[in-house]
Amino acid sequence: MSPSAKVSAIAKGRIKALPRLGINIDHIATVRNARGGEHPDPVAGAWAAIQAGADGITAHLREDRRHIRDDDLERLQALCSNENIPLNMEMAATEEMRDIALNLKPHAVCIVPERREERTTEGGLDVAGQHNRLVPIITALNAAGSRVSLFIEAVTHQIEAAARTDAKVVEFHTGSYAHALDREDQKEAGAILTALKDGAKLAHSLGLEVHFGHGLTFDNVAPIAAIPEGMELNIGHFIIGEAIFVGLEAAITEMRLIATEARAT
Ligand code: PXP
Repeated sequence: MSPSAKVSAIAKGRIKALPRLGINIDHIATVRNARGGEHPDPVAGAWAAIQAGADGITAHLREDRRHIRDDDLERLQALCSNENIPLNMEMAATEEMRDIALNLKPHAVCIVPERREERTTEGGLDVAGQHNRLVPIITALNAAGSRVSLFIEAVTHQIEAAARTDAKVVEFHTGSYAHALDREDQKEAGAILTALKDGAKLAHSLGLEVHFGHGLTFDNVAPIAAIPEGMELNIGHFIIGEAIFVGLEAAITEMRLIATEARAT
């Protein structure tokens, strides 16, 4: 089947487009902020991603506001409600972020670890070590109607700790898998992939929905998309970078095709 026939078959529901594709638009804001102006607008980017078939929009409000700003998030929530598309707000487990999320009421909140000095989210959340701090935040977010996911490494004690909270979802950090492949360390990448597969099975058996995200590209996404328990991929940096060359629509369409094919085969 040609790529365009596949896209049309997905659109008509003849090929089930799983996993869902969430597009992280943070780095449109990174480019905007480089000049301190208003262009390119990440909310216009979110709109373009939705037109290109994104199943959801993800944005990370970092404590230092290095990319997404508070007003972006408010406009994203308005856009996503209007377009009936889920907004997934990524945030650190701080009081400030909790209050912003409780006020905004996004469809989903993904709690991530955050260190000011890091370039991007490095490593997963220590749910096992922070149970008492996380539970009240998760409970409050659930009560406000947001679906909470915890961004963790695919290791047994963190998965079991996530299942002891009221979070409905775990997102497995795929960064170390992506980095191992960048280093051409197939052995390490294979071992991490096995951990992701086993982790997905365990999380699913404990009643958690499984998502994946971080560092995913056209070249490394297929084995992750093929994991049968995975319901959602959240991808940002590569798609926004690729869009410079081919446009957002083509980048998103290609990613969806690779993911859907990987799942179908
Ligand atoms: N999922 C989570 C929880 C993240 O923190 C990020 C990065 O902000 C992503 C997915 C997307 O990662 P990338 O930009 O590398 O595709």
